[in-house]
Amino acid sequence: MSFYTLGIETSCDETACAVLKDDREILSNVVFSQADLHTKFGGVVPEIASRNHLKKIIPVIQESLAEARLEISEINLVGATYGPGLVGPLLVGLSVAKSIAYGLAIPFVGVNHLEAHIFAHFLEYGFVSPPLLALIVSGGHTSLVQVRDYGDYEVLGSTCDDAAGEAFDKVGNLLGLGYPAGQAIDELAKKGDSSSIDLPRPMLKDGSLNFSFAGLKTAVVYYLKDKERINKFNVASSFQNAVVEVLVKKTLKAAFKKDLTKIAVVGGVAANSGLRDRFKQKQDTKGLEVFFPSLSLCTDNGAMIAACAHFNYKNLGSVSGLDLPPQPSLPIG
Ligand code: KG4
Ligand code: ZN
Repeated sequence: MSFYTLGIETSCDETACAVLKDDREILSNVVFSQADLHTKFGGVVPEIASRNHLKKIIPVIQESLAEARLEISEINLVGATYGPGLVGPLLVGLSVAKSIAYGLAIPFVGVNHLEAHIFAHFLEYGFVSPPLLALIVSGGHTSLVQVRDYGDYEVLGSTCDDAAGEAFDKVGNLLGLGYPAGQAIDELAKKGDSSSIDLPRPMLKDGSLNFSFAGLKTAVVYYLKDKERINKFNVASSFQNAVVEVLVKKTLKAAFKKDLTKIAVVGGVAANSGLRDRFKQKQDTKGLEVFFPSLSLCTDNGAMIAACAHFNYKNLGSVSGLDLPPQPSLPIG
């Protein structure tokens, strides 16, 4: 008999819900992005995000059930992000998920958003036997995580200041590209000269597996200062090239240090074409296997939440209490 999981994601500015059949068959994956509502503020406004999750959460759940051709009573398990993220937005998805679980008398599993990003790769490729190295690159996080086993994680390095996606968004703001700007920079970068502007590669040679992107953004601020005319293509391309170089070199360093040959690159910035190309080149020359989820599974979505909840429930026996609070700074590992 089939097993259906509802996955709910509201940790930031996407209201998302998916229905998963068994461990990785996506029946629906509905994402309502609030990006348009936040773009004029240059970033996510938590209060606006919470209110719009409240407005959208029920229609998004209904749409995901309709697309999956299921009644809510046929759902066997419900999972929702409980951290990390913005507390107001987290509360919305979490409360609705718990209410569904209580009303239907089915189990509820609270999901770590960062762990769920890793499960995007599970959805795409199925079970890739651990150990693996995960590079989680999103708007809120940049971390290198050793996956000893699913459910057993060790953080090898992370950002000391801005996340990679945050740096894309801030530089995009400087270029007048709106929010979020990662995809727009990616497009501009294709038409620019990546070596035209000399930008720093922060912490590249410091011996650690940590990152720093705030200084790179500041270097772009200084470059743009007092310039009457700028070539946006070249700025985007040089900036992206610097980020990609640091991400790829640090990831390879972690892989060699820990003797890991399988690398999963996940999170919104994993959609970046420059990053995907550079990893593919390295994969061919260094004997590594690099796994990228398809673009719709890189950015926030409910399917990765459902996959993570289902795996943890079935394989690790995880069930969360209905008193589970949101945890805005929840770590992985
Ligand atoms: O994983 P995600 O949807 O949300 C968080 O968990 O933060 O990631 C969103 C981030 C944003 O900063 C966005 O600008 C970035 O992913 N992003 C990209 C691309 N597409 C989305 N960054 C670079 N290149 C892209 N193609
Ligand atoms: Zn995310």
